[in-house]
Amino acid sequence: MPKRYLVTGGAGFIGSNLVDALVQRGDSVVVLDNLATGKRSQVNPAATFVEGDIRLYDFPSLGSFDGIFHLAALSRIYPSILNPVESSSVNIQGSVRVFEYARSISAKVVFASSSSVYGRKKTFPTREDSFPDIQSPYSLQKLTCDYYLDLFYRLYGLRYAIVRYFNAYGERQLSSGPYATVVGIFLNQFLHNQPFTIIGDGLAKRDFTYVQDVVLATISAIEHDAESGMYNIGTGVNHSVCEVADMIDPGHPKIYLPQRPGGYPETRADNGLARRVLGWSPTMQLSEWLQAQIQKVSLRRQREQVV
Ligand SMILES: NC(=O)c1ccc[n+]([C@@H]2O[C@H](COP(=O)([O-])OP(=O)(O)OC[C@H]3O[C@@H](n4cnc5c(N)ncnc54)[C@H](O)[C@@H]3O)[C@@H](O)[C@H]2O)c1
Repeated sequence: MPKRYLVTGGAGFIGSNLVDALVQRGDSVVVLDNLATGKRSQVNPAATFVEGDIRLYDFPSLGSFDGIFHLAALSRIYPSILNPVESSSVNIQGSVRVFEYARSISAKVVFASSSSVYGRKKTFPTREDSFPDIQSPYSLQKLTCDYYLDLFYRLYGLRYAIVRYFNAYGERQLSSGPYATVVGIFLNQFLHNQPFTIIGDGLAKRDFTYVQDVVLATISAIEHDAESGMYNIGTGVNHSVCEVADMIDPGHPKIYLPQRPGGYPETRADNGLARRVLGWSPTMQLSEWLQAQIQKVSLRRQREQVV
């Protein structure tokens, strides 16, 4: 049966892909987003778009929902180090307002948490019960919300699922600016014949996960009848930043920039829980997706030469 969902951050990279999938299933979707990093043009026209800030919005005016996907956030590590006050007000205070609203309407919440809470782990793959190692305000803010949800469940019976995303990539990823992801930045640099900019030595490894796989896991998490749960959403395979550059073009020039604070050497998900409980498994490999993008770029360049 179609459901009515609220997607906070539904104009952003992952949120807009999630909204498309929900609309395609026939669900009714309201997007709340202040367009801090998201784009109005990315919001599916079949969804209702409301421009607003989760820190201030009068949530009851939106009515009731079967579930809330809470993805709105200032969503990267380095900006949170530059501005911990602003990021904490959105990522903690704003989130608690969303959870409080969910509680008031008895809606289940799916919260977009982050693999960055595991920090400088040395044992891989990392399980959900692995002790956190906090290296940035962003990670602390995500972990704080994970704890808030568990507390709200115990205090008020708020049902929730925490999905800890591991470096999502794919359609609509940002390709420039402080909130861009490495895959988006490299593809954009390749497209414009600019050198790849590598921060640090490029040996940091990340578990890159395709956005459509992330979306499927997120929907499975709201549908599952467990009252609470926390799931790693990653592939279980990782690649270094230099390997990603080489997957795009091994001969492309690279520029190395100084390491920034807040980093950590490696992420790799133990996704056994998501597989067993949610019935989820990743379907796309990074190299496969990158090959398809590179083919599109080559075709475009060939066509431009013909014209
Ligand atoms: N992309 C990843 O690899 C990744 C990894 C781990 C966790 N996450 C989390 O997943 C969620 C989505 O990430 P994304 O990559 O799509 O980021 P994004 O920046 O593209 O999306 C975040 C959205 O939240 C909106 N937003 C920001 N502040 C807001 C506010 N105060 N009120 C209302 N809306 C606000 C932005 O405009 C944007 O549309 C975020 O919570 C992020 O922290 C993402």
